[in-house]
Amino acid sequence: MASEKPTVVVTCTAPVNIAVVKYWGKRDEELILPINSSLSVTLHQDQLKTTTTAAISRDFTEDRIWLNGREEDVGQPRLQACLREIRRLARKRRSNGLEDPLPLSLSYKVHVASENNFPTAAGLASSAAGYACLAYALARVYGVDSDLSEVARRGSGSACRSLYGGFVEWQMGERPDGKDSVARQVAPESHWPELRVLILVVSAEKKPMGSTAGMQTSVETSALLKFRAEALVPARMAEMTRCIRERDFQAFGQLTMKDSNQFHATCLDTFPPISYLSDTSRRIIQLAHRFNAHHGRTKVAYTFDAGPNAVIFTLDDTVAEFVAAVRHSFPPESNGDKFLKGLPVEPVLLSDELKATLGMDPIPGGIRYIIATQVGPGPQVLDDPGAHLLGPDGLPKPAA
Ligand code: DP6
Repeated sequence: MASEKPTVVVTCTAPVNIAVVKYWGKRDEELILPINSSLSVTLHQDQLKTTTTAAISRDFTEDRIWLNGREEDVGQPRLQACLREIRRLARKRRSNGLEDPLPLSLSYKVHVASENNFPTAAGLASSAAGYACLAYALARVYGVDSDLSEVARRGSGSACRSLYGGFVEWQMGERPDGKDSVARQVAPESHWPELRVLILVVSAEKKPMGSTAGMQTSVETSALLKFRAEALVPARMAEMTRCIRERDFQAFGQLTMKDSNQFHATCLDTFPPISYLSDTSRRIIQLAHRFNAHHGRTKVAYTFDAGPNAVIFTLDDTVAEFVAAVRHSFPPESNGDKFLKGLPVEPVLLSDELKATLGMDPIPGGIRYIIATQVGPGPQVLDDPGAHLLGPDGLPKPAA
């Protein structure tokens, strides 16, 4: 049954982010407040993004949400927290006497449809882009223009860092109510144009333990995590900020690798231990160090989140050679799939010397594919009504 046109409909996109100083552990599970600050790089939406349409209408009888075309339970607590928070901010705005730019009612129910332009099955973190996009789209339909850190954070901690482009820190804050636990841009996406990002999608053997449960066990059992958060991360945040400001790739790369390794060390220190890295992940670590040793300096840096996929940072002049090294060590399986996606990369030949330094037995098919990308901007509003994922009846448009 076709109902009336939704009163307000907005479509937004939001990026994925990769932490170079990791968030791991909460001091407040309900408000999603972290035990340490973290810092991330926002990836370009040409390669990885979430698109979300939010619509409010007086015809809607309940809040509803569809993810990648499938209706999901709108009652899940984190989704409810985001909805509650945005409606609270909208109410606050009204009581401040600000004019509503759009005719809307806070009692209107919302319909949300969201999809990723990358396969969720690849094990790439999608919750950060997803909740940032939800926060951004809800803010637009409900006419909220204040800081959205809290709305996104209540969905998934790392999501608040996807609200900005470029290089972003999530300041842990001190207040028990979390009002000072917010994301801030450290430098815009234009700041370091040579920086490149390669996502090495590893063939996953099993589904790893989720971040939420994993970090909870770490907080309960790992003394190393407590030491890291209290004694090491504050200086690392300052040093990482300096590396970015000065575009010091050597130091940026080294600290990125050390912080990833330390995060995975805290996972092993968790009891029972958690291991996110696979044999292939460890071979990628070895490959990166041998590649750097061959060049006598840090030309590539790896980082791993709660799964076996590697994210490599490098500069534009090194991408082609490193991709050739990856192909050499992990010969693509001829399954017809494109091995290299995203930004184009020139094929180059490896020197015999570099091949000898890499010196490993090739692992065919160890890496399923590579996504080549770069630093990118924050969430965007799409003006084209054709981009809406919800039709005039407020239901998902059939897939094209
Ligand atoms: C390893 O943000 O997914 O990617 O707040 O429980 O939703 P919740 O966890 P989440 O954790 C991300 C952990 C990480 C490191 C990082 O992104 O900083």
